Amino acid sequence: MALYSEKVMDHFLHPRNVGKMEDADGVGEVGNAKCGDIMRMYIKVDPETQIITDVKFNTFGCGSAIATSSMATEMIKGKPIAQALELSNRAVVEALDGLPAQKIHCSVLAEQAVRTAIRDYFDRKGIPYGKELEDCGEGCGHCGD
Ligand code: FES
Repeated sequence: MALYSEKVMDHFLHPRNVGKMEDADGVGEVGNAKCGDIMRMYIKVDPETQIITDVKFNTFGCGSAIATSSMATEMIKGKPIAQALELSNRAVVEALDGLPAQKIHCSVLAEQAVRTAIRDYFDRKGIPYGKELEDCGEGCGHCGD
């Protein structure tokens, strides 16, 4: 069996929503504590509906980070913020038909970038949020992985 699924290869070779967004409503930059790779995610939000109308990302990361970020942007684009907050790295990995065990940590970068961009949006708008979105200061931003 190939190490990487066809979907992983497709999103790695043809990543969706790559780039910078000048007029983003929220920007999240996260670093992966395990490898030092970094990712920046931009979101545009409709203030009326709280729907994420556009997403872009840039990463200095490995192929798995690129593929998971690309898939994550596809999964949250056009979705309400509340739904995007429920996106887990496991759901992204499943949508990609899996990743090798030693690359699962790469998928955390995408999940955290989404959450950090949403937190930035909440901060800019003065929207309160719960403890689960607060930064623990560890750099990875996520426990349990
Ligand atoms: Fe760093 Fe994959 S090795 S994100």
